[in-house]
Amino acid sequence: MAKKFKPTFYVTTPIYYVNDVPHIGHAYTTIIADSLARYNKMAGREVFFLTGTDEHGQKIEKAAAEKGMTPLQLADSVVTRAQDLWKALDISHDFFIRTTMEIHEKGVQKLFKNLLDKGDIYKGEYEGWYCVSDENFLAEDVPLNKEGVKVCPDCGKKAAVVSEETYFFRLSAYQQKLLEYYEAHPQFVRPPSRMNEVANFVRSGLRDLSITRTTVKWGVPVPGDPAHTIYVWFDALHNYLTGIGWDWDMTLFKKYWPANLHLIGKDILRFHAVFWPAFLMASGFPLPGCVFGHGWWLKDEAKMSKSKGNVLDPYVIIDALGPDPLRYFLLREIPIGLDGNFSHEGFIHRVNSDLANDFGNLVHRTLTMVQQYFGGAIGEREDESADDRALREMFERVKAAVLGHYESYAVNKALEELWTFIGAANKYLADNVPWKLTKEPDKRRRLARVLWQAAAAIRGAGHLVAPVMPGSAKKIWELLGETAAPFDVPFADFRFADLKPGQAMKAPVPLFPRVDLKEFLAAEAKHAPPAKAEPKEKTMDIITFEEFKKLDLRVALVLKAERVEGTTKLLKLQIDLGTEQRQIVAGVAETYTPEELVGKKFTVIVNLKPAIIRGVESQGMLLAGLTGGKAVIPFFERDIAPGSVVQ
Ligand code: MSP
Repeated sequence: MAKKFKPTFYVTTPIYYVNDVPHIGHAYTTIIADSLARYNKMAGREVFFLTGTDEHGQKIEKAAAEKGMTPLQLADSVVTRAQDLWKALDISHDFFIRTTMEIHEKGVQKLFKNLLDKGDIYKGEYEGWYCVSDENFLAEDVPLNKEGVKVCPDCGKKAAVVSEETYFFRLSAYQQKLLEYYEAHPQFVRPPSRMNEVANFVRSGLRDLSITRTTVKWGVPVPGDPAHTIYVWFDALHNYLTGIGWDWDMTLFKKYWPANLHLIGKDILRFHAVFWPAFLMASGFPLPGCVFGHGWWLKDEAKMSKSKGNVLDPYVIIDALGPDPLRYFLLREIPIGLDGNFSHEGFIHRVNSDLANDFGNLVHRTLTMVQQYFGGAIGEREDESADDRALREMFERVKAAVLGHYESYAVNKALEELWTFIGAANKYLADNVPWKLTKEPDKRRRLARVLWQAAAAIRGAGHLVAPVMPGSAKKIWELLGETAAPFDVPFADFRFADLKPGQAMKAPVPLFPRVDLKEFLAAEAKHAPPAKAEPKEKTMDIITFEEFKKLDLRVALVLKAERVEGTTKLLKLQIDLGTEQRQIVAGVAETYTPEELVGKKFTVIVNLKPAIIRGVESQGMLLAGLTGGKAVIPFFERDIAPGSVVQ
């Protein structure tokens, strides 16, 4: 089922929920997709770039009810926020799919029905812990409390075991096929660490998947059985087919499917790398080339998300600087796959040094001299010197490397490589001192050569950076007097020496102005929601015994301990809780070595919402005393079984 070779490139982003205002984290996925779409166009391929919104399901139903709106009203009012942001960020998608579109809903019903007829979907009974108050089955991994009951993590009420009629997808039948597919296509999931994670999950056993709900009304009804609503993930994943014409424009669909690249955040890897290929195999579609799970943008070491209240509004930056500095920063700062911590200080530092100092100055100096010394059109120039040739040859080398990096989705490396060339072009100017040459009348032709060489270098750098900073690249080419836009010239057709002598160049305009940190932070403070007022006096919060009982405290045995890289305080601990093993992160590295903790037992709160600390997931918290800011852990001295209740 390998993709037939054809010069097309189909790239997707996840479709974003409409209960959230898009933030820098969402912008990140979309910017990566946009840059790769633009790169592939310039590489001579026909490109289809799909993004959109995920508008069904309980989250939206709930958010709409809280706002006193119907789910569709909510979706209609929020969808424009995503669309406006993509416009402001110069995103060049070919289609924006909404899961409430008829083409999508009909497609999902048809795909569901086909699988039902084939027997890959069947009706059965789902038994699980159900929260009546929230009308929701709890996730499998919610632990039993000391009474042997599961408590709803959202509302804190006790759940009951309930069975419900549901349709199942026969996921278990695809375990072996998936493993074989991963084995034969090691690039199917990237980066490689995520491939291992996925394969381990599948190897540990797949159970059939409940793919309908009777308690959720806002969604696509099961064809012929409308009391059941199709599970939002079954619905949403199929946007990658319906968004490219499945069942409504089969010519388009056949041209582009299978997708080359599904870009997603690592949080939704399992859906894309396990469920999605299984659905596709069942329906008989070829599988996509690659599911790339990128890392998270963190703020203050926690994943940026609405629920944590730490989201950054991209408009703070776009309004002040336009889209390109943000696009550049997000793609330059981290490899796609790792987490990054977003700070405005870090952002401004990079913008000032890479964009204002290195690239901006190169363009500004060169164009200023072209104006001053030649009135905008470089005249007769000398033949190429050894120094000129070295710069041109370096460009060819850098170009090959940059294109190779784009091709393998290593955009940060492409930019890093390109900036070595920008550095070399700056050095070329410094070494060839045009400002001195202008004082020597017999060096006029040499001066013309030096400025032409620098302008040609800028033109080349502008071409290579165009997928990431399309607006700036276009402006640079206009300033150089080019009539074409850089993205209209395929990489294969670009020639360094094609900058025409005598071409009318314009006076420079500031491309990447330096940003003053103080002024920027002041503007940001105006955008940011007002901080909650701190209570003047700290009063003791009294809790009831009922509230205390909500804490699930257990004895944990440490199986493994190691330091969290790049921190002095944090240890990552693997703990045994009797019925399961978990990972927690604890700020105890200043008082304990990892070796000291292995085999020790202490108390852990096990029903605390998991958190990401310095990019590492912590599924619980240990209890410790604090002295002078350092943690001292009360260990159990007598033998006690891991998982025992602490009260
Ligand atoms: N609707 C589902 C996706 C269905 S795809 C068939 C969903 N939506 S979401 O709006 O919650 O998030 C979508 C994506 O936004 C994440 O997978 C990730 O790509 C991106 N991000 C959200 N927060 C992020 C960060 N803080 N950092 C980086 N990307 C993040 O899941």
